[in-house]
Amino acid sequence: MQWIDVRSDTVTQPTPAMRAAMADAVVGDDVYGDDPTVAALETAAAAALGKDAALFVPSGTFGNQLALFTHCERGDEVIVAEDSHIVWHEVGGAAIIAGVNLRPVLQLNGDAVRTRIRPGGDIHLPRTGLVCIENARGNGSVMPLETMRELWDVAQAAGIPVHLDGARLFNAAAALGVEARELTQYADSVMFCLSKGLAAPVGSILAGPADFIERARKKRKLMGGGLRQVGVLAAPGLIALDEMSLRLHDDHANARLLAELLEQLPGVVVHRDQLDINMVFFELLDIHLDADAVIAKMLAQGIKANLPEAGVWRFVTHWQVGRSEVEQVAAAFGAALRR
Ligand SMILES: Cc1ncc(COP(=O)(O)O)c(C=O)c1O
Repeated sequence: MQWIDVRSDTVTQPTPAMRAAMADAVVGDDVYGDDPTVAALETAAAAALGKDAALFVPSGTFGNQLALFTHCERGDEVIVAEDSHIVWHEVGGAAIIAGVNLRPVLQLNGDAVRTRIRPGGDIHLPRTGLVCIENARGNGSVMPLETMRELWDVAQAAGIPVHLDGARLFNAAAALGVEARELTQYADSVMFCLSKGLAAPVGSILAGPADFIERARKKRKLMGGGLRQVGVLAAPGLIALDEMSLRLHDDHANARLLAELLEQLPGVVVHRDQLDINMVFFELLDIHLDADAVIAKMLAQGIKANLPEAGVWRFVTHWQVGRSEVEQVAAAFGAALRR
């Protein structure tokens, strides 16, 4: 069965070109620095982000945790948005791997960071080691460049590095209509995922200054992320970076179309303020329904969707959910609500 899968963009299959590139990839032992395809990907990624150097890592979580581990000393405090992936979905890894405390803030802006930076000279206080930004945000919205610059200016003035969790960096760039490096100029280090909307099967990139990446390379080995003939994964990564990053505006347009179609159904209220990328968040007002039954009915129509969380549904578009699939999803959801 040809499924339509709107659970996430993490479900994307590699494109036919990616599968061919994997088969043909020239590889070597990357722990020896011998894999030319990994080297090509790291060079291309660093250039795209305007950074000195880049490192292939197994996942986005790995890249974020490696960034904390490389920037910080044990016991440091990391200022980060309360609803961020690092706080919610990385299994508390910050305490285990880097040994840092997270200092979550509700609204990440210049004032919030300024007032939370620990003054030096008091033996009672931890050191503020890092500010983490997420863009695009996990709730589907994109942080404006002005806010990124404000955060950067505050951190710079205090001599504190900034890490950007850019799991969906290229979605954010497409939504803002700018090059990725216009966002990454406001961060010392950045992680982005080659998987998700960019459709590579595995992998993320951590980029930053040369000395930071050199230290991260050693810590990546410590974390078990020194991979051998990994050019088979870097090859689709190059296609993700060079080609798939250029088509994300299609996914965004399809998400907006899906939002419009869903809004035509009775009771559906789309969270328009979060509709910046490929994610449609919505609620059903005044409708009391059995969400499990809705999911089952959609499944019977060949559509995979997630259950709502705290009453909020999320449908995600990607290269395998085009205009026609969007129309089928909206129609199947409408039918499931009616029956
Ligand atoms: C904002 C954000 N950061 C980091 C990650 C982690 O990526 P991975 O699933 O590759 O570990 C995700 C995954 O969905 C994410 O949404």
